[in-house]
Amino acid sequence: MRQAIFLLFYLGILACLGTFYVNAEDPYRFFTWTVTFGTISPLGVPQQGILINGQFPGPTIDCVTNDNIVVNVINNLDEPFLITWNGIKQRKTPWQDGVLGTNCPIPPKTNWTYKFQTKDQIGTFTYFPSTKLHRAAGGFGGFNVAQRSVISIPYPTPDGEFTLLIGDWYKTSHKILRRRLDSGRSLPLPDGLLISGLHDSAVFTGEAGKTYKFRVSNVGLETSFNFRIQGHKMKLIEVEGAHTIQEPYESIDVHVGQSVTVLVTFDESPRDYDIVASTRFTKPILTTTATLRYAGSHTPASGPLPIGPTYEIHWSMKQARTIRLNLTANAARPNPQGSFHYGTIKVVRTLVLANSQVLINGKLRYAVNGVSYINPNTALKLADWFNISSVFDFKTIKDVPTPGAPAVLGTSVFSTTLHDFVEIVFQNNENSIQSWHLDGYSFYIVGYGSGLWIPNMRERYNLADGVPRHTTQVYPKSWTAIYVSLDNKGMWNLRSAIWSKRYLGQELYIRVWNDEHSLFTENDIPSNALYCGKAKHKHS
Ligand SMILES: *[C@@H]1O[C@H](CO)[C@@H](O)[C@H](O)[C@H]1NC(C)=O
Ligand SMILES: *[C@@H]1O[C@H](CO)[C@@H](O)[C@H](O)[C@H]1NC(C)=O
Ligand SMILES: *[C@@H]1O[C@H](CO)[C@@H](O)[C@H](O)[C@H]1NC(C)=O
Repeated sequence: MRQAIFLLFYLGILACLGTFYVNAEDPYRFFTWTVTFGTISPLGVPQQGILINGQFPGPTIDCVTNDNIVVNVINNLDEPFLITWNGIKQRKTPWQDGVLGTNCPIPPKTNWTYKFQTKDQIGTFTYFPSTKLHRAAGGFGGFNVAQRSVISIPYPTPDGEFTLLIGDWYKTSHKILRRRLDSGRSLPLPDGLLISGLHDSAVFTGEAGKTYKFRVSNVGLETSFNFRIQGHKMKLIEVEGAHTIQEPYESIDVHVGQSVTVLVTFDESPRDYDIVASTRFTKPILTTTATLRYAGSHTPASGPLPIGPTYEIHWSMKQARTIRLNLTANAARPNPQGSFHYGTIKVVRTLVLANSQVLINGKLRYAVNGVSYINPNTALKLADWFNISSVFDFKTIKDVPTPGAPAVLGTSVFSTTLHDFVEIVFQNNENSIQSWHLDGYSFYIVGYGSGLWIPNMRERYNLADGVPRHTTQVYPKSWTAIYVSLDNKGMWNLRSAIWSKRYLGQELYIRVWNDEHSLFTENDIPSNALYCGKAKHKHS
């Protein structure tokens, strides 16, 4: 019956071909998500949470490469709202990215439908609210993209899989946290860590002798964590859509906004074992556990919790360098991942982006190259599409930091040309860790280093098997360098994934453009687009 309805719908889609620019041969998955406030108590204290269809965390999206995803989001909050799809590249559909630079927010008590494709993607991703610190209240979930049946994966098919959403958590409501940031104060250390919405109580059950895929994401706001399993090694197979060299790890660091996928074989004596996540680079260290259970076990976990690193920065940097791309494996497409040869392409532009904590008008802000981002009330993408001037200009931010210049508020947008091949150096001169995320892309991480980046550091770059990701950490008093091929037209958010820093200005946009208007490079504005600010009257 379901199949029949689906078929009818499918035929309907075929009939409408011409108005749909998505590939009608790929299957559709429809979701209706009602977003509400509700009481949750993940740390034992009741607080206001954001639920999707009554759930915290939100439902996991499980789909296949190239599926068309249609999500009708019904915003029953009393505030405007958007969800962004962390790591889904939105190929040709910057209109669906769900950040204030690309979308007007969904007004309270109304709904809006996202339509996008998981084009040429595979792996473990997440989604979360991008607006008004909503993420501190929930509204996040897993987004898993499996391979198409005709595509091989570079490891034996696992016997099952688990989605672990791990992150720090505050007992305080997001509205109070927001007021605190608005008044110019930083966030305190979080109150605890959660694993899939639970503190010390999640259970993952599998059978002895079998191998399971663990999809582990950092959905927290502020802190990196280390993840480990008592008595079991983890074999890393994928980070954010790239198949890695399959090394065994005792423990693994995951920074805010990142996802890793590991295989775990249940090859110990059948009982319960502790799964542990603990914060990195914080004082004190926050720890939470979950249970890995052999089916039928009535023997609780015992013995000491497996020990992980705490403050050691060098340890983490060394581990990060071991995460490398398997050049012969394929990803979502049949061709080898290594065939792109990123190390041989000529860089046409270098951006050096330095983060800083600043005071502007006496209030705490966070800046990139001296500019602390403010959202105009017109979505940048709309301003671009309708040639509305005076929403942003390309002179606000410079390609490199200007030493000594006072920090200012501004709407930073870099202007780039479609297919530019760009080097970005994230320079972190501060004592806290950074995590940078770029929408619309994965970028190759070519180097991590301590101190100040200088052009000579290029000699140390990994130009062979660096791993492409959508989010990279930048260690305290260190730099991280990436290469990115700007082959996805649009207006893309580059942001600190450390959420208080982004909330107070540590973000910008990269406009990737050419003057040729073509459906091969970018879809037209969707018929259901929302209009706001100076684009309000453009509504057709
Ligand atoms: C709102 O939801 C209704 C169905 O409940 C749907 O028909 C309509 O297209 C949605 N509106 C938008 C803008 O997505
Ligand atoms: C790399 O991928 C190939 C599949 O092309 C696989 O056979 C091999 O085991 C992988 N190598 C490592 C070291 O992970
Ligand atoms: C905006 O300007 C571009 C180039 O000047 C032009 O091709 C396009 O049609 C304009 N768009 C609108 C909506 O006027």
